[in-house]
Amino acid sequence: MLKNVLLEAAKAGASEILRFFNKEFTISNKEGVNNLVTEADHAAEKAIISTIHSHFPDHFILSEETGEIIQDSAYKWIIDPIDGTINFAHGIPLNCVSIGLEHHGELVMGVVYNPHLNELFFAEKGKGATLNDQPIKVSDQSQAIKACLVTGFPYTYINMANGPLEVFEKFIRKGVPVRRLGSAAIDLCWVACGRFDGFYEHKLEAWDSAAGSLIVQEAGGRVTDFEGNKHSIYQHRIIATNGKIHDELVEIVNTRKEL
Ligand code: IPD
Ligand code: CA
Ligand code: CA
Repeated sequence: MLKNVLLEAAKAGASEILRFFNKEFTISNKEGVNNLVTEADHAAEKAIISTIHSHFPDHFILSEETGEIIQDSAYKWIIDPIDGTINFAHGIPLNCVSIGLEHHGELVMGVVYNPHLNELFFAEKGKGATLNDQPIKVSDQSQAIKACLVTGFPYTYINMANGPLEVFEKFIRKGVPVRRLGSAAIDLCWVACGRFDGFYEHKLEAWDSAAGSLIVQEAGGRVTDFEGNKHSIYQHRIIATNGKIHDELVEIVNTRKEL
């Protein structure tokens, strides 16, 4: 039942994405210079939340544009109605719906659906991860120097030691390919299915990483903070890999060490 509602909600949100994609829609700016929210984000969010609430009116919701709908419930749905809004607004078909579900504070299910590529990633705690119902697993790459990585940059630049550009520079100077797709949820799922060997980002929110972090782990990968400790979706920094290059990536990202 939970799984059916999760998938139904993701598809309802995705229909709204497709309804507006490459069509007319209003855009407004949130905090920061290019932090957009479009009419489609709101429409997708409304469709997702009303699907969930029509089945589970008493469940807790945390959604990017609406914020928290607080309920005294063991279940919490964590929603990004469009992850990759800038891509969406520019007609780039790399954006998705991302929904994670927590039970008593533990992630138990997640879905990331990119309707443009018709790719639906799903995971359930302890039961593995799938792409369009086929099991997926992380890559076998065991050396960071040979890895294909992906990252993202925050809307407002963070000036800090080992900040986004410094870490990026370390990899680029060594010739390691680091992609920047513009959707953290898709980045995580592409690690889960082995397209990328690793992903890191400095400032994600819970709705960016909830579903994708479970999908990576259920596909056999590892997800931690920058220090290599257990990751919480309520903290900003994340490293997600196939497991084999994880310690090396933690060391490179977190210190001044060169590859
Ligand atoms: C953003 C995307 C992007 C990441 C940003 C996120 P949004 O989410 O996931 O890849 O680099 O940190 O905020 O704004 O498109 O939902
Ligand atoms: Ca997002
Ligand atoms: Ca979003």
